[in-house]
Amino acid sequence: MTDDGPRRGAGRFITLEGGEGAGKSTQVARLKASIEARGHDCIATREPGGAPGAEMVRKLLVEGPVERWDGVTEALLHFAARREHLRTTVLPAIAGGTWVVSDRFADSTMAYQGYGHGADRAMLGTLYDIAVGEFRPDLTLILDLPVDTGLARAAARRGTETRYESLPVAFHERVRAGFLDIAAADPGRCVVIDATAGIDEIARAIGGALAKHLEA
Ligand SMILES: Nc1ncnc2c1ncn2[C@@H]1O[C@H](COP(=O)(O)OP(=O)(O)O)[C@@H](O)[C@H]1O
Ligand SMILES: [Mg+2]
Repeated sequence: MTDDGPRRGAGRFITLEGGEGAGKSTQVARLKASIEARGHDCIATREPGGAPGAEMVRKLLVEGPVERWDGVTEALLHFAARREHLRTTVLPAIAGGTWVVSDRFADSTMAYQGYGHGADRAMLGTLYDIAVGEFRPDLTLILDLPVDTGLARAAARRGTETRYESLPVAFHERVRAGFLDIAAADPGRCVVIDATAGIDEIARAIGGALAKHLEA
């Protein structure tokens, strides 16, 4: 998968990252509406999933007993789904001028499987190169909040997709620290957003990050 240069006339690829209950799905919907209000076509999508085949892989990852996969197998499944998501949904949309907002992307694999489960991070980088290539998000918003707050919000939401949520608090603490590490290492792409704020305030902070990073 190609295209790392300036995407003139093309859409943008914006990813939202963060732990369980951080408010990603809430803010993806808000961001899509605000991008459309500024006159761009925009689709909201998610990982794992975002394409028919990738949604089938999603079920294997987010449902069922927590011990069903180890970190490496999880990473392989996530990257298989990711490649299908890019090939089928993201890249065609961007090429056609549509902006794409994704609820999670590859930083989640690094944070969950790398920092959380301890899978080798260089190996994850190699999988990225194989499955994705040079392509990177134009902007990544990392929603950061204390683990207990996020897990409480996620628990209140309910549903069947509880496999990652059911991992221990220490796992989620490593995931949070991982996201902050990733952001610190790539400040040109990543912006950390305080996700303890109210929904409107977070949406404003995200709007500010877009103005600064994508319209400068
Ligand atoms: N800023 C916020 N403050 C309080 N509750 C929130 C906030 N953002 C989202 N929520 C609520 O917390 C729960 C989890 O939000 P969600 O967007 O599903 O998080 P995520 O997709 O990151 O897991 C939902 O019930 C949502 O309505
Ligand atoms: Mg969500």
